[in-house]
Amino acid sequence: MSDDETMRAEEMIAGERVFNFSSGPAVMPLEVLRRAAEELPALPGVGMSVMEISHRSRWADEIFAETEARLRRVLSVPDDYRVLFLQGGGSLQFSMVPINYLRRDASADYLLTGYWGRKAIAEARREGTVHVAWSGEGHRFDRMPVAPEELELDPEAAYVHVTSNETIQGVQFPGDPLAGVDLGAVPLVCDGSSDFLSRPIDVSHYGLLYACAQKNAGPAGLSIVVVSDALLERGKQGLHSMLDYRRHAEAGSRYNTPPVFAVYLFRLVLEWLEDRFGGLERLGEHNRRKAELLYAALDEHADYYRGHARPEFRSSMNVTFRTPDEDTDRAFLRGAEELGMHQLAGHRSVGGVRASIYNAMPLAGVERLAEYLHDFRRRSG
Ligand SMILES: Cc1ncc(COP(=O)(O)O)c(C=O)c1O
Repeated sequence: MSDDETMRAEEMIAGERVFNFSSGPAVMPLEVLRRAAEELPALPGVGMSVMEISHRSRWADEIFAETEARLRRVLSVPDDYRVLFLQGGGSLQFSMVPINYLRRDASADYLLTGYWGRKAIAEARREGTVHVAWSGEGHRFDRMPVAPEELELDPEAAYVHVTSNETIQGVQFPGDPLAGVDLGAVPLVCDGSSDFLSRPIDVSHYGLLYACAQKNAGPAGLSIVVVSDALLERGKQGLHSMLDYRRHAEAGSRYNTPPVFAVYLFRLVLEWLEDRFGGLERLGEHNRRKAELLYAALDEHADYYRGHARPEFRSSMNVTFRTPDEDTDRAFLRGAEELGMHQLAGHRSVGGVRASIYNAMPLAGVERLAEYLHDFRRRSG
């Protein structure tokens, strides 16, 4: 049996787990949950729960060190980059980035690519001047910019901020954002929350990359920041310690009591990723295959389903579409639940249907949804 078939069989036998298409907190690998459950009362060789050990203990040292080492290997993080494990979700990064790097006498370039890009801009404006270098608002955020001529970049900007995948609209840069654009000395800052670890990226392209964990990395409560030494050194002085990247780097991500349990789960997720896929190359292909199955079903019935993103910018993580009307959307969602497919409703701000198919969503779940897309269309006449 393939891994997906094994998982399908196990899940059906258990009869407890449904296919969870939530945009986050999202489905976690079953193997990770089982291992965590097994080790919850007593971590092997420790005799205490991971939730009970000191964050300054040698066991925590090992967990942090191994998690970081795995992440560096999986993501090919260059030696002159630091990895930080922080709290406050993606949202705190909307504030920390400008607090650290947006000085009063400068401005930062932001790409308004959708709901999350807008949130990042709103927080940055509390700190200083924001220049919107590109906006997708005029076409309902159905695409990302690719051509340099589309962007109004300021060569003196403190940084350029992008969102690699807009979770709510379901639009994604086809590769590293702004890959073909000459940014000069301006560092690229990326909110990679909803496509983190889903495909290979070139970390050296970014000054700072951040992601909340609750899509591809683990549970909510942990955020991962990868930042170049050069940018780290450029941060403002005299910041509140908890808002200062440099302070967290000096303290090895343990300035205060960190969520050790969440970091431990992230380590298990990385182990799963490496054991099962070897790395991001194969995982990226797997994710592409899953997304293509759904988009092919939607395209086959393009007279009925209306996908949101333009084809070149379709997200491989969040597949967003509508049926002909809202009543039918609701009927679609009800029918899906009856078949064990949950949390498919679009975000409250946009409605419709959204299938989030992160790393841990098995192929079997996507196949079932693709089949349902065909059946639902046929039944509707
Ligand atoms: C792209 C993106 N950025 C930021 C966030 C905010 O993350 P959090 O809720 O952890 O603050 C989300 C949450 O879904 C997201 O999808």
